[in-house]
Amino acid sequence: MPIATQQQPKSTIDSLKSALKETVISDTSSAITSQAADSSELTDKYSNFAATPATGTEFRAFSTDGKPTLSIREVLEDEQKLAQLGKLVSERGVVFFRDAVISPEEQISLVDKLGKLGGKPADSGLHIHPLTLEGGKYGDEISVISNEFVFDSKFERPKRLRVKGDTLWHSDVTFETKPSDYATLQIRTFPAVGGDTLWASAYEAYDRLSPYYQKFLEGLTAFHSAPFFVEQAKNKGVPVRENRGSPDNKGQHLTNSHPVIRTNPVTGWKGLFVNRGFTKKINELNQDESDHLLEFLFAHVASNHDLQARFRWEPNNLAIWDNRSAFHAATYDLGDDVRIGTRSVSVGEKPYFDPESKSRREDLDSRNKV
Ligand SMILES: [Fe+2]
Repeated sequence: MPIATQQQPKSTIDSLKSALKETVISDTSSAITSQAADSSELTDKYSNFAATPATGTEFRAFSTDGKPTLSIREVLEDEQKLAQLGKLVSERGVVFFRDAVISPEEQISLVDKLGKLGGKPADSGLHIHPLTLEGGKYGDEISVISNEFVFDSKFERPKRLRVKGDTLWHSDVTFETKPSDYATLQIRTFPAVGGDTLWASAYEAYDRLSPYYQKFLEGLTAFHSAPFFVEQAKNKGVPVRENRGSPDNKGQHLTNSHPVIRTNPVTGWKGLFVNRGFTKKINELNQDESDHLLEFLFAHVASNHDLQARFRWEPNNLAIWDNRSAFHAATYDLGDDVRIGTRSVSVGEKPYFDPESKSRREDLDSRNKV
């Protein structure tokens, strides 16, 4: 039985069912939410290692253990492997391929397939960033990630930008009604050194809180917004893009409220869903209380380095992550060097909290006891 049907409210189950019906999947048992999508089929068979106990799995470019290497091309052409990869990404937060020759168009296809196999709503497509202007080099569904500009060369960043690293933690586009499920990034222009990306586990961030604190957070919602993007667009006299990968992701305001603890529909696990980039206020608290709580939660993610993994980019590396249950942060230590990559972001479901869902540790512990 799919994990999702065991743990989600009826309305969510219905929307997942209708989404799956409209998705072109030749074999419904290959949906990421089904138990047939067993991530250990990949991790047992192909040369890989866990980046840290908490998060990240890396598929090697060269085998060191006699197992074959896993090619992203092989995954792209095999629906069962795609579903297994999607399950692994949702479980581990982020998956890296060290040898992934992949075009931006294939990145789009990969993340779209992962989102569909994951049962996202039928009208959720790929995200078009509010600052992606029409007529860009790679089209609307690729966000160009650069230390020189913000998604489009029209929106420059200050030269030699140095920012306090812990301020950069975020998950993508949480200001949307329907934010991202899966995302991929490949860096294509490299600095001599620097420009690493870090990921952190939202599951582990939840698991490290005391049961009393967890319960407190489970009753809260938070306000997310992106005034920076609105300001950038206003300064250049252009509107932010509308219909950003879902009919629900519209408007010029870039604001939304989401549960503070979010259930991942693929794993059924609870994770912390506030981030320094976009979360501005806890709705149920007064300003002082909210500032205090958010500061604690942001520091909780940034300062616990053992719930993070750090990735140094080399040519043909690919990262695939689940924005519902992982945070990430770039590193601006490039000096005058340039770092440019292509990112494609799938739009998922409206975030929800299912009180019946489990924590990652609780679930893994109970499986180990069987
Ligand atoms: Fe990001």
